[in-house]
Amino acid sequence: MKSMKTLWLTADDGGIETAAELIKKGGLVAIPTETVYGLAADALNGEAVSNIFKAKGRPMDNPLIVHIAALSQLEELVAAFPEKARALSSAYWPGPLTLVLPKSKEIPDEVSAGLSSVAVRFPSHPVAHEVILKSGCALAAPSANLSGSPSPTEARHVYDDLNGRIDAVLDGGGCEVGVESTVLSLTDESKPRLLRPGGVTLQQLESVIGPVVVDPAVLNRLEDGEKAASPGMKYKHYSPNAHVVLLKGGEQAYAAFVNAHAAPGVMALCYEEDVKNLLVEAVSFGRKDDDKTQARLLFRKLRELDEKHAKLVFAHCPKPVGVGMAVYNRLIRAAGFEVQKLD
Ligand code: TXA
Ligand code: MG
Repeated sequence: MKSMKTLWLTADDGGIETAAELIKKGGLVAIPTETVYGLAADALNGEAVSNIFKAKGRPMDNPLIVHIAALSQLEELVAAFPEKARALSSAYWPGPLTLVLPKSKEIPDEVSAGLSSVAVRFPSHPVAHEVILKSGCALAAPSANLSGSPSPTEARHVYDDLNGRIDAVLDGGGCEVGVESTVLSLTDESKPRLLRPGGVTLQQLESVIGPVVVDPAVLNRLEDGEKAASPGMKYKHYSPNAHVVLLKGGEQAYAAFVNAHAAPGVMALCYEEDVKNLLVEAVSFGRKDDDKTQARLLFRKLRELDEKHAKLVFAHCPKPVGVGMAVYNRLIRAAGFEVQKLD
């Protein structure tokens, strides 16, 4: 693709105005959200949306999330907004929850990758709100990374990946949640299905709408030929350059295994409590019982390991409960599903 100049904008009134103008004209702008940075374009402009796929190197069969900043925008996006969607939206919007719903005729095929549904999210980040409202557009926005690499939680991560490929980056500081939104499908309202765990937990969803089916691809590798309910889950994802292996086991077993494999280029991605036990360079992503911090730091730390030129990373496997389910889901993908049980 041809190279362009990528503007670096600060998220003040002027920067937000420029971002909104670029989007109105069909451009691509990376914007902050509370989860990760998103690469935004006018969701109803099919050509602009197809440029998102080119800039990221994203497979065209992986649909995008449409971002809104007022419930009134739903009208032109979805064909139905069932009772469970209403209940969840009043509990968790604005926030890190995406709902997959029957799509309206206005949604271009580029957004939905030809599916009959569309994913919609109402982010809570004030800068995302302003860009949506000032541009007057619902925004199609995947995470603003090159396809396959860890999602960006700071503006400079976006710049590292996409400089020369997009119109602008709007710097709004670090992202609070740190992993992408929870994706819940309500295309069959009688069987809500969790497609991707995130900042809104399974327990939080079930407390509002009752039982939710966890799609098997959330915690396990899809077998060859199995169809992904969420196309994004079939791809290798979030990978640093280093080879990542997940180790399941307690503090002692983890330290013993890592130390026995100490060598140049071998590093650890571990809990705060592990650091003192390790003989290799250790990067901590939070305390053992603090899943929110782990989520906030995970992608930052995966990028940091690349900056340190790690070759082999032994990651301490988190418990897949609460926000930890999201951390686990991203880490097993970063590890290409290579998980080793220690005790
Ligand atoms: O937090 C987030 O959700 C971030 C920020 C920017 O909002 N966005 C994000 O987008 O993570 P992306 O494109 O990286 O992930 C979208 C996920 C993919 O796994 C995709 O397959 C799934 O949502 N998805 C989108 N539309 C879908 C649909 N109609 N049916 C099933 N899955 C869908
Ligand atoms: Mg992504």
